[in-house]
Amino acid sequence: MKSEAPNQNITIWFNNGFVRLGDANVNILTHALNYGSGVFEGIRGYYDEKKKELFLNRVLDHYERWKLNCGVLRINVPPSTNELCEITAELCRRNAFESNVYVRPLAYKASARIGVAADENDAYAITVLPFGNYFEGRKGLKAGVVSWRRIEDSAIPGRAKICGAYVNSVLAGDEARHNGHDEAIFLNQDGHVAEGATCNLFMWRHHRLITPPVTDNILEGITRASIMELARNELKLEVVERSIDRSELYMCDEVFFTGTAVEVAPVTHIDHRPVGDGEIGVITTKLRSLYADATRGRIPAYRDWLWPVYRSGIIEKTA
Ligand SMILES: Cc1ncc(COP(=O)(O)O)c(C=O)c1O
Repeated sequence: MKSEAPNQNITIWFNNGFVRLGDANVNILTHALNYGSGVFEGIRGYYDEKKKELFLNRVLDHYERWKLNCGVLRINVPPSTNELCEITAELCRRNAFESNVYVRPLAYKASARIGVAADENDAYAITVLPFGNYFEGRKGLKAGVVSWRRIEDSAIPGRAKICGAYVNSVLAGDEARHNGHDEAIFLNQDGHVAEGATCNLFMWRHHRLITPPVTDNILEGITRASIMELARNELKLEVVERSIDRSELYMCDEVFFTGTAVEVAPVTHIDHRPVGDGEIGVITTKLRSLYADATRGRIPAYRDWLWPVYRSGIIEKTA
């Protein structure tokens, strides 16, 4: 998926103030630009046309993860998670967004000089942009296992969204697309299935929903956690976290990816073989629709996932 260049007049949060996106620039020698020493997040907001409300999805959980991830690189982000949510909501209001949005927080080592050794000069920015579907259309995806292995925790922790680590995903995505696939599937160093280039993976096999454990070098996805909760609570499915072999992907009934950007994305082909009957599966369809309902405030039990931007009071009134 390639998104369009954003409108440079959008207001973002940069150097502790509201500025035009086009005016939020960094020096060419910035440490993070040269050495990858930044940590980012990705958060979605869903606009409800009828309620005229924009719901930020699990924004508190995302900012909690961001701060923990920043700790890996010893990057300090001073505001509390609640304050970060408030800044994000204020950005949506200042831009008067009446569409789905994507939030991109980025914290980074900001010194502009030569030298890998990091110092305490930290900075962060939050950008909110209008955002549509990550994958074109709503058809099933063709995925392929790539030759690049998922980064090891002992090299660069994959459970943190560290900018430099995403070269791993760039290489994987590039190889997958050149081989005629829509998305990559990584194996880890042990040869087990880890995840997609930018998303977690679930498989439906022997009437169980199976996903790799967090110790298999995956990102601890927030959508992954949401799907496990929905599967257990709403569909009463048995959800198992265990390592997955590559060949299981060829023998299972269904596979789908999860992620903030990709949401719940059905995979109908892997390595040029059909997954199950090659059609979007029943379990995937149910979970995709439950996820869409929960993230748009249509299921009362999950309303506490959502942070209303325009404070319409709808959440309280209809709960
Ligand atoms: C490598 C990787 N795995 C999984 C995910 C899904 O995580 P989440 O559901 O928290 O967006 C992402 C996206 O952020 C990712 O980059």
